[in-house]
Amino acid sequence: MLNVVCIGSGYVGSVTGAALAAVGHPTTVVDVDERKVALLRQGKSPIYEPGLESLIQALIGKTLFADTSYEPVRTADVVFIAVGTPSKKDGTADLVHIREAAAGIGRHLDPDRFTVIVNKSTVPVGTAGLVASVIERETGLKAERHFTVVSNPEFLREGYALEDVFFPDRIVIGSSHPVGLQRMRELYSPWMQRSGYERFAKHFRFEVDPSRPLPKYFETDCSSSEMIKYAANAFLAVKISYINEIARLCEALGSNVKDVAAGMGMDTRIGDKFLEVSSGWSGSCFPKDTAELLATSEKYGIELSVVRSSVQSNRQMHDYVVQKLRRQLKSMNGRTVGIWGVTFKPNTDDARQTQAAHIVRELLDLGAYVQVHDPQGMAMFREMNPDLPIRYCESAYEAADRADAVILLTHWREYGQLRWEEVAARMNRLYVLDTRNMLDSERLWQYRIQVEGLGNSQRASGSGQAAVIPDPDSGSPERVRELIG
Ligand code: UDX
Repeated sequence: MLNVVCIGSGYVGSVTGAALAAVGHPTTVVDVDERKVALLRQGKSPIYEPGLESLIQALIGKTLFADTSYEPVRTADVVFIAVGTPSKKDGTADLVHIREAAAGIGRHLDPDRFTVIVNKSTVPVGTAGLVASVIERETGLKAERHFTVVSNPEFLREGYALEDVFFPDRIVIGSSHPVGLQRMRELYSPWMQRSGYERFAKHFRFEVDPSRPLPKYFETDCSSSEMIKYAANAFLAVKISYINEIARLCEALGSNVKDVAAGMGMDTRIGDKFLEVSSGWSGSCFPKDTAELLATSEKYGIELSVVRSSVQSNRQMHDYVVQKLRRQLKSMNGRTVGIWGVTFKPNTDDARQTQAAHIVRELLDLGAYVQVHDPQGMAMFREMNPDLPIRYCESAYEAADRADAVILLTHWREYGQLRWEEVAARMNRLYVLDTRNMLDSERLWQYRIQVEGLGNSQRASGSGQAAVIPDPDSGSPERVRELIG
């Protein structure tokens, strides 16, 4: 087993650290934030991610440790850098935390042992070189003689991070250094054996298809490895934008995008994943990574028009949702709109840069009153959007209270299992715009709730007939105070 240090206890650091500790590598997660370290030491997760806390609880003090000091770097075989790389105003990634981490590692490297430093954070092409030069400057040690910097991008989906970390499709390693390559093979060897693989599944009670292949272990040079992460995320964003555009056309022509996507996905060249319609992609990765890719390409005078169009198309999709609601309600002024889901997808509390923020702002601009609910993301949404005069609701039912429409933005499972009688009783107009095509429109029609999806004109009336919607009075200033007060 190898001694591992993981700098950063955010999303990537805590999941990666816990996974490495789970397979038996003694792993210390280092963070300058005392609060996060204290949480880890108590067996608590610093982030919301299903299953992570119980994993940390089982490992802490055994193979998993947490520290505010970089001291454990001195005896480490492998040091991961897993700190945040937020976007700057111009779209490029801000590498300030990467530089700090590199300098901190440099100050604690033992010159008598060869250390492998791994960039796990999503970093622009060339960052391995930057980390090496910061360490060289800090210490006088020489890259490739005393240490090497390897690229090993993460491909974790929020909400499914444990499944992705233990059962990845591929492990990508970027390095040309023989010790770097060798140590990474040793580190990931439990992932590459069927027995180790089955052990994870049993231990963590994951349902894994027994015929599931082992991950592909892919070694390449550092620069290509760094590019793989950006190219993959931008491709996924393009794929979603594409099906969302097709959904708009399906709606106009009377086709059903779910079937269109299913039929397309049967072609193995296309594949059936990431063809689910939504109000647009968002989250902490796709917007940031597409922005970085575009900014870098501009710097080099290369026009990435497909990626640029995907970003534009995604914005159009957010707008399309609002337009669709406008078509339904005619005027938005004074209408009450409930929002179900403010996180960019279910099973996360991440409400940074979500489509919900954009859609809510548009609705407010049109004079609507907005009341939102999310099972996990309300605190972060409020923190990110402190200026929004909206009502935060305790339950999905409350968000439907006297609503002229509800927009389902995030496909949390609980939104498919509501007591529809109660929803119907609370709403003013029984209209739900289901941007994830997850609700059973036939069933909801039994309660006279009209469900409209995206990319499927037939779902508009549930029974195939236009619903009769009463036209209640629009709002008043008292109602605004009541709602946001
Ligand atoms: C993504 C990548 O999947 C992961 O490999 C990478 O390392 C980090 O970025 P994540 O941001 O957690 O992961 O979310 P993901 O599940 O990829 O979804 C991104 C966005 O696309 C969400 O808003 C999601 O709702 C949306 N989406 C996804 C769709 O609209 N349709 C789809 O078919 C799939």
